[in-house]
Amino acid sequence: MAYTVPKLKDFSPAALDNAARELLSALEREAAQTGSADQRKSFRDHWLGRKDGILAQMNQLWLKAAPKEAKREVGQRVNQLKAEVEQKVEAALTKAANVTTTPSLDISLPGIRRQLGAEHPIIRTMHEIVGVFKNLGYSVAEGPVVETDYYNFEALNFPPNHPARDTQDTLFLANQEAKPRREQLLLRTHTSPVQIRTMEKLKPPIRIVIPGKVHRNDPPDASHSPMFHQVEGLAVDTNITFGDLKGTLDHAMKALFGASVRTGFRPSFFPFTEPSAEMFVSCFICGGSGKRGPDPCRPCKQTGWIEILGCGMVDPNVFEFVKQNGYDPEKVSGFAFGMGVDRIAMLKYGLDDLQLFFQGDVRFLQQFA
Ligand code: DAH
Repeated sequence: MAYTVPKLKDFSPAALDNAARELLSALEREAAQTGSADQRKSFRDHWLGRKDGILAQMNQLWLKAAPKEAKREVGQRVNQLKAEVEQKVEAALTKAANVTTTPSLDISLPGIRRQLGAEHPIIRTMHEIVGVFKNLGYSVAEGPVVETDYYNFEALNFPPNHPARDTQDTLFLANQEAKPRREQLLLRTHTSPVQIRTMEKLKPPIRIVIPGKVHRNDPPDASHSPMFHQVEGLAVDTNITFGDLKGTLDHAMKALFGASVRTGFRPSFFPFTEPSAEMFVSCFICGGSGKRGPDPCRPCKQTGWIEILGCGMVDPNVFEFVKQNGYDPEKVSGFAFGMGVDRIAMLKYGLDDLQLFFQGDVRFLQQFA
């Protein structure tokens, strides 16, 4: 409630002092609420307004109403008080106007710096690998990390008692025993099941890369982790040959590790490819010499070669599982490959401990930002 000047019955000095004190404390209260220009205007009108402002009310209710014998005394006091009110109102207005015109935001201050995130070195490496194949016209496919035995093993031509199906290696979900074997859930041990999933959906010809997380029951150490990453590849068409595989992968390795790396193949075995091979690149750390100055080159174990991926021609038995979608092994052929991203990232960044990638130590990760 805005203050109004009270009528006085008693015009004694003590009563006038009292009334003056109340008036001034009301002034102080109202002066504190002058944030906006509108508030400042009504504050000024309320106290100094000619017609019915507080000063005018003081004239009416205190000076004019005072009995004759008190007039002199009252007149002096009222005049003093009016001068004080005028001065205080002006001071309050000036102060309020200054406060509100001073910007509350100092745009010259440095501000709050938001730290930008960056790709994790493994994800960055994964994107680089995928990028190389995208440039060759490959599409990207993804699939579930929790997979069925059918996609992870059966349709990839793993024999029923293959050691990879063993619990020593595969992480199975609990309480699956009641289900038929092929429906039992597990954490995929490789990205290869997405080959089948994609061939079920897309008719040939296809060219796809498949990045993703995989799991195996390996205790963590400097070169193992129960969770790691792979990039898989699959190309199916008529007349795809081992020469296509070699040419494609040789190009990809040069794009990833530098034009001077050489590639080599050694026979290997995977249930879902026939023939199968392991691909090696000449060590891009020692240049293939096996030595770094007088010291042995550790990353290639002095061999001058680094094993980088598994690959091969898609086994006709695999095509049998998706034959009805156009993958007749008599008509189409293809090659596939799969590589471990984490190890490639380690080689690229010269790390000797895989665990650094997964410990989440910002001091380590910031180096890649
Ligand atoms: N899936 C294999 C693994 O995890 C890697 C692999 C080898 C993938 C040969 C392929 C392939 O597509 O053709 O060890």
